Amino acid sequence: MSDKIRVALIGAGGMANSVHYPSLAEFDDVEMVGLCDLIEEKLNATADRFGIERRYTDYKKMIEETAPQAVYVLMPPHHLHDIVVWCLRRKLHVFIEKPPGVHAEQTRQFAHLAEQNGCLTMVAFNRRFIPVLRYCRDRVRAEGGWIHQAVACFYKDYRAGGPYYDGASDVLTCDAIHAVDALRFMVGAEAVKVASSVRKLTRHFDTSFNALIEFDTGAVGVLLTSWMVGGRVHTFEMHGFGISAFCDADREAVIHKDDQLRVEELTPWGVAGSEERHKYYGFWHENRHFIDSIKANQEPETCFPDAVRTMELVERIYREAW
Ligand SMILES: NC(=O)c1ccc[n+]([C@@H]2O[C@H](COP(=O)([O-])OP(=O)(O)OC[C@H]3O[C@@H](n4cnc5c(N)ncnc54)[C@H](O)[C@@H]3O)[C@@H](O)[C@H]2O)c1
Repeated sequence: MSDKIRVALIGAGGMANSVHYPSLAEFDDVEMVGLCDLIEEKLNATADRFGIERRYTDYKKMIEETAPQAVYVLMPPHHLHDIVVWCLRRKLHVFIEKPPGVHAEQTRQFAHLAEQNGCLTMVAFNRRFIPVLRYCRDRVRAEGGWIHQAVACFYKDYRAGGPYYDGASDVLTCDAIHAVDALRFMVGAEAVKVASSVRKLTRHFDTSFNALIEFDTGAVGVLLTSWMVGGRVHTFEMHGFGISAFCDADREAVIHKDDQLRVEELTPWGVAGSEERHKYYGFWHENRHFIDSIKANQEPETCFPDAVRTMELVERIYREAW
């Protein structure tokens, strides 16, 4: 019997093809035992690309016939629920994209079922696994005592776009959630107070979310997001005593220290050791983390119980809006 981790894959869409399956295909200790998608064209194109023999349009049949240890369920949030619940009840480890369901209550129920069934789970909050962002966070924490202030900005020019999945999800829960989760990651703490502004800015759905968050360590987090600006910019700031890091994980990161600016200049690809985006932007590392967690029988960092906290903070940003 092979000692590879047997992984079954549900979903042959964008994220599966662009980042997750290319990462898994590079791991010697993973066997992609089967692929399922409802659309046969996508199923066959993806299975051909990754050399997967067993192809299905029914995920239950795939799981029964291929007996995996873990399942990837890669599809939009409103399609996740029944599949994730079915897999957890069969004691399978589960990896999903963000957001982990359409609202926090779904995530809470996923987390509860996972705990009852002894499943290891992971939500693909890839920003946490971006090597240059993690380097900056660790450096500021190590040399600055603690991160007492952090900023996460996420901007897009989405003027031509409509509500996410025709309104099945919203911009904050589905996408700007990356910045919310990154704040929790940077300060390593949980929110205690939130003051926020949520605006539509000419559209019929919410497109801008700004918040000031106090965390239980005393750290302050600032969330700045809008989908009605000049273009995509996604940046992170972390401040400790005598050290600051400003990180744009698509371009560069700089460290300021002891009143000296730019004492260190880093490129995301330099820190990651690769110019491939799925490697320097955290996707390869999050997949590696999931597989390593299964091998160590340890809960991944972005497990469902942890993701509940991020979903709850998202809901709080709506609730506390002035
Ligand atoms: N982390 C990131 O940076 C990032 C970026 C983009 C999207 N995402 C997230 O990734 C998720 C997936 O997005 P996507 O663009 O890859 O999706 P997609 O729509 O391209 O792919 C989903 C696939 O799942 C299949 N599918 C749906 N129901 C199924 C079922 N019951 N059985 C089998 N197959 C089924 C569909 O046919 C489709 O091929 C979304 O939640 C999105 O928010 C994350």
